[in-house]
Amino acid sequence: PTGRVTDTMNRPLHDLRISVTDRCNFRCVYCMPKEVFGKDFAFMERDELLSFEEMTRLARISVAHGVEKIRLTGGEPLLRKGLEEFVAMLAALRTPDGRPIDIALTTNGSALAVKAQALKDAGLTRVTVSLDSLDDTTFRMMNDVNFPVAKILHGIDVAHEAGLGPIKINMVVKRGQNEHDIVAMARHFQGTPYILRFIEFMDVGSSNGWEMGAVVPSREVIGLINVELPLDEVAPNYDGETSRRWRYRDGSGEIGVISSVTQSFCRSCSRARVSTDGKLFTCLFATEGHDLRALMRGGCTDEQLATVMAQIWRERTDRYSQLRSAKTIQLRASGMKKIEMSYIGG
Ligand code: GTP
Ligand code: 5AD
Ligand code: SF4
Ligand code: SF4
Repeated sequence: PTGRVTDTMNRPLHDLRISVTDRCNFRCVYCMPKEVFGKDFAFMERDELLSFEEMTRLARISVAHGVEKIRLTGGEPLLRKGLEEFVAMLAALRTPDGRPIDIALTTNGSALAVKAQALKDAGLTRVTVSLDSLDDTTFRMMNDVNFPVAKILHGIDVAHEAGLGPIKINMVVKRGQNEHDIVAMARHFQGTPYILRFIEFMDVGSSNGWEMGAVVPSREVIGLINVELPLDEVAPNYDGETSRRWRYRDGSGEIGVISSVTQSFCRSCSRARVSTDGKLFTCLFATEGHDLRALMRGGCTDEQLATVMAQIWRERTDRYSQLRSAKTIQLRASGMKKIEMSYIGG
């Protein structure tokens, strides 16, 4: 039952995002606000998490179905003990025609200086670092655990030297919080090997107090930068890429914008997500996942698992961002169950 699968809109399964822990050492205001994720918050117990073997099993079957890129997310993935071992297990996988898989990691960067080399040695291809401000005061306020920006910048350099590039830097832009830092960030990363991407604040989860007013549309971000550092739009690297690319006219590199709110990219979305406890989600905004852990722990065969996963993808109809409207936003705000970003991994 293996081979490439496509969904109801003819979108192939190409990317698998695996959340390896629901925990994080940051409390970013737009993701894990302290009021919700406080001292008493019940994170998952160890036996609830998929083991590396279980995750590798899902990855192997996904690769047989066409996945060529695996991204490890969290929470903060580097908090998962022994992550290098898992990376090594993934690095051993091959596509049906014998090619290695692109293995990427989205991290807050706080442990990169310590872990970059081991991750590279284990076979990690590249990292993406979330960084919301260069201004130390703003950064400490946004991560809400008083973490200094200098340590992240150092981690990024260490990862670059270890060969984990090209490194992308993700900045979630929130109105009134870090918009003043947009041009400063652009200037800082212009002419470096790092690709800065500005992300529209999305209505994921129910605890981050999302409202449309807090979204800074990518059009506005590009406008602000273009005035000082002229830009031209560039074609995407691959169909289904989350970000739209822009290049500095003077040849000093490129930036990207991820505009899930104002310009959805569902049309070509080829991403599946596995939560820390082994549920398969076919959309970042899905309210229900498919419990693959129960199947695996119930003793199903690889063949059965492969059939189930292919069937789920074939039936997929998701296009939340495309359909998002005042009405759906209101509906979601009014208590509909929503999956938290830290659980599904963004
Ligand atoms: P590349 O492999 O470098 O293209 O990575 P990526 O952009 O797919 O992943 P990354 O983890 O860097 O995600 C960047 C931002 O885009 C995050 O805020 C994600 O939550 C968001 N994002 C990624 N995939 C999707 C998606 O399928 N739908 C929506 N709405 N947002 C997404
Ligand atoms: N909207 C947009 N991006 C978000 N991220 C976390 N929460 C949100 C949100 N509400 C980002 C992180 C990280 C990526 C995986 O998702 O900053 O870069
Ligand atoms: Fe942690 Fe990333 Fe969420 Fe910030 S955005 S709280 S670093 S998982
Ligand atoms: Fe894919 Fe859902 Fe995001 Fe659309 S909203 S791009 S379908 S994950």
